[in-house]
Amino acid sequence: MSNFTGRREFIKTSALGAASLGVAGSGIAGNSAFAADSPITTGSNLEYRFEAKPLKKATLTMEGISRKTMEEHYKLYQGYVNKSNEILGLLKNADPGKGNQTYSDIRVLKHELTFAIGGVKNHEIYFDHLGGRGGRPEGRLLADIESNFGSFDAWVADLKGTGLAARGWVWLAYDHDTGTLFNYLGDAQNTFPIWNATPILALDTYEHAYFIDYAVNRGAYIDAFMKNIDWDVVQKRYEAANR
Ligand SMILES: [Fe+2]
Repeated sequence: MSNFTGRREFIKTSALGAASLGVAGSGIAGNSAFAADSPITTGSNLEYRFEAKPLKKATLTMEGISRKTMEEHYKLYQGYVNKSNEILGLLKNADPGKGNQTYSDIRVLKHELTFAIGGVKNHEIYFDHLGGRGGRPEGRLLADIESNFGSFDAWVADLKGTGLAARGWVWLAYDHDTGTLFNYLGDAQNTFPIWNATPILALDTYEHAYFIDYAVNRGAYIDAFMKNIDWDVVQKRYEAANR
């Protein structure tokens, strides 16, 4: 997992940075607060750096998802970590006084930052709950899946159907506002999350997740994914999100 201590510091610092930028932000609207030689940069929250979490050994000996797939997949994850850090570094020098919605450094960098960080976070959830024995969860997670979807098998059917329809990801997420579980569809690392929901389980449906093992047969890959879920990990995520 990324350095969560650092992440907390990042969030705290980010809040402070946002507060101070609230003053500077009024200058952006008026497009007059930033002189050409302004020392102001895009914020004080850019010192955070992501760190790649190693793969668990159990994910390299799974049935149905090969070691080759996992090793190549991990390289992509490392790329997202590196690009997140690279973009955060570049943002230090992006002049907010030159913000422009058609093209500007701050626009492009902040847009692509969401894709890069999405690539980090999505894959950390995905890798973390692989390497298990499949089956089904227990306790409150199972009860809540059954109450939200009708039955565990109905949830699996919805997950698989959503996985066949998605171009990137499916997330089983808990919506803190509605108190419900739902299988959300994503077409990329940064689409289409909703606010105030916590992903409990992440299914990668990009071709790189299965093409070596299954070619175009995504359904067979999703079946293999289900057989390798570590439900203890998923349950802990749910308990942490829904206390
Ligand atoms: Fe992936």
